[in-house]
Amino acid sequence: MSTATPENLYPQFDKMLSRDERQSRLGQRSHVFWLYGLSGSGKSTLAIALEKTLFAQGKFVQVLDGDNIRSGLNSNLGFSDEDRAENIRRIAHVAKLYAQSGVVVITSFITPKEELRTLAREIVGPEDFSDIYVKASFETCAQRDPKGLYARVQAGQVKQFTGKDSGFEEPARPGLLIDTECESVEQSLDGLLNFASPRIAL
Ligand code: ADX
Repeated sequence: MSTATPENLYPQFDKMLSRDERQSRLGQRSHVFWLYGLSGSGKSTLAIALEKTLFAQGKFVQVLDGDNIRSGLNSNLGFSDEDRAENIRRIAHVAKLYAQSGVVVITSFITPKEELRTLAREIVGPEDFSDIYVKASFETCAQRDPKGLYARVQAGQVKQFTGKDSGFEEPARPGLLIDTECESVEQSLDGLLNFASPRIAL
């Protein structure tokens, strides 16, 4: 595979329609809300609920979700540390492109390590990025098991599973913590809306 060297690339960003023009048209400030946590913690449910609510309020929103991206753009990646890092790197660039076009982005990826959350923040740009920890214990997620995945893990059919034989680091200081063990979906959604609304107001 040949890689283009920087001296042979001529980015045209300055000539393109600006982000400000796009945001004015859409009546919003774009932002990336990066939801992370264990599989089954409630990320996708909350991402979709937040997307629908903001859309109903007239905002233009896009969810990027683990299982969707992994069946398309990132279908060549597995769950080794290297592949998870490449997964997050690509998604962060996609999220940045959406943000550049004025869209509010909600991502839903396990993002198991602090260094991956830092990588995503750096790629998107700190001023456009909020990290949101969707917290539930491994035991609770295993009980919920919405995809039947934890049962397959128990049966030894899934390797490198997050929280079992692949690590998950608790965030030291999350931008927002949503505890889905203690809150209803409605309560969590309220918390997310209170957090998100001022950040996307023009
Ligand atoms: S991440 O670690 O790279 O951020 P990502 O969120 O994209 O993970 O993908 C996680 C989803 O892939 C889970 O919700 C689950 O449906 C599926 N999955 C399949 N195998 C694994 C595994 N070994 N560990 C975690 N999730 C897995």
